Amino acid sequence: MSIWNRALVRDPISESRFVSSTLCDPDYWPGEDSGFLVAHAAGRPAGFVRAIIRRWPNDRVGVEPEDGWIPVIAVDPDYQRQGIGTTLLKAAIDYLRGHGRKRVWVCGNTGSAPGYVFPGVDQDVYAPALRMFLKAGFVVDHEPVAMSRSTLDFDVAGWSARTRAACPQAQVQTLTPERVQDFMAFLAEEFPGDWNMGARAKIRSGALHEVLIAVLDGRVVGYCQWEGEHFGPFGVARSTRNRRIGEQLFIEAVRRIREADGRTVWFNWADADAARFYARFGLTATRRFAILRKELV
Ligand SMILES: CC(C)(COP(=O)(O)OP(=O)(O)OC[C@H]1O[C@@H](n2cnc3c(N)ncnc32)[C@H](O)[C@@H]1OP(=O)(O)O)[C@@H](O)C(=O)NCCC(=O)NCCS
Repeated sequence: MSIWNRALVRDPISESRFVSSTLCDPDYWPGEDSGFLVAHAAGRPAGFVRAIIRRWPNDRVGVEPEDGWIPVIAVDPDYQRQGIGTTLLKAAIDYLRGHGRKRVWVCGNTGSAPGYVFPGVDQDVYAPALRMFLKAGFVVDHEPVAMSRSTLDFDVAGWSARTRAACPQAQVQTLTPERVQDFMAFLAEEFPGDWNMGARAKIRSGALHEVLIAVLDGRVVGYCQWEGEHFGPFGVARSTRNRRIGEQLFIEAVRRIREADGRTVWFNWADADAARFYARFGLTATRRFAILRKELV
């Protein structure tokens, strides 16, 4: 953890978050085959990498046996630029290859990002890491952004009036126990993968008041969830896109975040199309990530 906090300066981690995100991750099996590799120099840890093969199904998508993931790599600043990062990365790739993987992701994709701590390499703060991955034969697959804005001056009434006019039949409402089955069926159909697990965890925690669904002609056609000021995931069924249903969901979520005394609304991960959506509401990019991919031949 001290290496993590010294090397990943923009992503400090507390002990409890490290325990929950790594040691208690269902894909982390302690032991020789854990995929968590540590480099030693002068008898003490100098760096680490986590390589993941799914041990636990990604909801209905399963264990994705051809894919491997590297959610995090770091070398103690005192030991950087001595080849340790390259050695760790090679060991991680060997581990994944040994498990029959055909491609590696840093750190994942929408719907499949096991061991998620950040979407990819922060291009501004971790430029050396980006160079290391490119040098090792990774390519940039896509470039999501983190975004945020203040809620204090968010014109809920103005936005709502404009947006509701576009699709007045759509109703945005809090998820209720009666709707949970319809909601989960919608998610499985429209957004297979880890959003389903995120939604289940949310429902199990009892926080239904932080989930909104959009209902059109009696069907669930969209949803969003949040936690405090952290917005997402968020999605609308393909067949009902471009009818401002997503806007209704987002505006209502911001209204509720404000009511709960949230001063900002932010998220870590929007792909290019989604980023355009949020830019309309005045959100601006706070981080730019590179999601990297390497085919193993
Ligand atoms: C990325 C990181 C793990 C690299 O570890 P390292 O042991 O310093 O890496 P290496 O010595 O093996 O360097 C490998 C290549 O990376 C690039 N690189 C590493 N540090 C660099 C720097 N400061 N400036 C420019 N390029 C750099 C170079 O291409 C280098 O090859 P070269 O020395 O032949 O030019 C380390 O910089 C680090 O811990 N950074 C902070 C954490 C981080 O960004 N993690 C990624 C998020 S997943």
